[in-house]
Amino acid sequence: MTDRVVVAGAVLDRGRLLAARRSAPPELAGRWELPGGKLERGETPEQALVRELREELGIETEPVERIPGEWPLKPGYVLQVWTARLLSGEPLPLEDHDEVRWLTARELEADTVDWLDQDRPAVAEAARRLSGG
Ligand code: CDP
Repeated sequence: MTDRVVVAGAVLDRGRLLAARRSAPPELAGRWELPGGKLERGETPEQALVRELREELGIETEPVERIPGEWPLKPGYVLQVWTARLLSGEPLPLEDHDEVRWLTARELEADTVDWLDQDRPAVAEAARRLSGG
């Protein structure tokens, strides 16, 4: 059986990466993630990402490229991550999150927020891109 894809966005803007703190479910609340969600039927990952970021944070984005790799979540689900450009809007925790932050390369290096474990490899790759590496 093919795993269902959860797509998340490494949204980059003016040298910073967007991080969002989950408010649910209880076992994930308080942890930080690259925002995103499950693909709906018939959607491409890019379409799902644009939709999820609009619904959850009220921003318009443009997916740029996939960060190579795929990370297992709960059984039957895998995480894929795209970098994305912020087109418009100021991210607000409208749904599923209670705080958002823009992190600089330096803050990412200093491990400023408690990322979900499964997001860490993609966050590290996004941080490398921010610092031009
Ligand atoms: O919004 P939707 O219900 O489509 O999805 P979600 O609840 O945001 O994410 C589905 C699953 O993927 C959850 O179990 C999240 O913990 C996981 N996830 C993750 O591990 N890392 C992310 N960056 C986004 C979601």
